[in-house]
Amino acid sequence: MNIQLIPLQTHGDARGSLVALEESKNIPFSIKRVYYMYDTKSGVRRGFHAHKALTQLAIVVRGSCKFLLDDGREKQTITLATPTEGLVIEPWIWHEMYDYSDDCVLMVLADDFYSEEDYIRNYDEFITLVDKNVYS
Ligand code: TYD
Repeated sequence: MNIQLIPLQTHGDARGSLVALEESKNIPFSIKRVYYMYDTKSGVRRGFHAHKALTQLAIVVRGSCKFLLDDGREKQTITLATPTEGLVIEPWIWHEMYDYSDDCVLMVLADDFYSEEDYIRNYDEFITLVDKNVYS
């Protein structure tokens, strides 16, 4: 599985740090939606879905959390712990997020609006669809 981590340039000086996100420049898609998770309770695991068409980029702007990424054939875990990189979540990648630090703010940029129709929330269904190669 090819996991893409995008380095985000920091403009830092004596005052602190600044990261700019620009669609089709350092973000490889047009940004239609931004959402963020915070105050995630200890021990919580969330996500548990894949998307049929949506591409997303996850950035921890504060704190850290872990991702389980699964393309139906291979699983990989990755820790996000810096606001200076973004994890690309392609369609047809089952993902779960866990081990959120208490201060974690996880921001996600998405290339489309929220649509429940685009979700696959059942893992068995996900595997069945991957096996049938419905996305290729
Ligand atoms: P949910 O899909 O359960 O989050 P996750 O799978 O990442 O753990 O989303 C929680 C709630 O927020 C659910 O009621 C749907 C709603 N929601 C929106 O209204 N807009 C959005 O862009 C997202 C991501 C979720």
